Amino acid sequence: MRVLIACEYSGTVRDAFKALGHEALSCDLLPTDKPGQHHQGDIIEFIKHNPDWDLMICHPPCKYLAASGLHWNKRIIGREELTLESLNFVTLLFNAPIPKIVLENPIGRISSAIRKPDQIIQPWMFGDDASKATCLWLKGVTKLKATNVIKKLRYANQTPSGQNKLGPSIDRWKLRSKTYQGIADAMAFQWG
Ligand SMILES: C[S@@+](CC[C@H](N)C(=O)[O-])C[C@H]1O[C@@H](n2cnc3c(N)ncnc32)[C@H](O)[C@@H]1O
Repeated sequence: MRVLIACEYSGTVRDAFKALGHEALSCDLLPTDKPGQHHQGDIIEFIKHNPDWDLMICHPPCKYLAASGLHWNKRIIGREELTLESLNFVTLLFNAPIPKIVLENPIGRISSAIRKPDQIIQPWMFGDDASKATCLWLKGVTKLKATNVIKKLRYANQTPSGQNKLGPSIDRWKLRSKTYQGIADAMAFQWG
């Protein structure tokens, strides 16, 4: 298959598909962290000029969409507009002329503004000792099936109160946004 991974700097999902023999390319405004097939630039422009893909998996930014931050929209002037811009970006991705599309994002505004997700997955359903509710909106693919469920009261990435453990740092968003390997492997195996 020809697989495009939109908004991916880490190369995680791209390399999982490549390992199974697919032609996979990641696209992000940032350079790729791991050497591999990568286009650095705007994904919307890229698809316009390169529309020929079987499957696109999209990881758009969640900063202005995630439920956890939406309360700021009432307090910070202009933030609601950024949420609307993010929704527009997500809509463009999900309506791209590609037969199979997967959109990934945390619980948040997409559910009320566009539609509810088809499923909500967790890294611990795919062999990673971590908790992070992740919504998937699916077009043309079946729901992802759990591969290795780890049941724990508290996962390695959580504080006793259930928050994410990572403290403030310049690259906190990057560390928190990287796709978990177990999920990437399941995507490649089940959708490839
Ligand atoms: C939440 S992160 C996803 C990271 C991904 N899960 C990974 O493992 O690399 C969102 C990414 O979208 C990228 N991005 C934002 N706007 C973009 C655009 N217009 N075109 C391409 N990438 C974009 C950001 O640079 C950021 O790396």
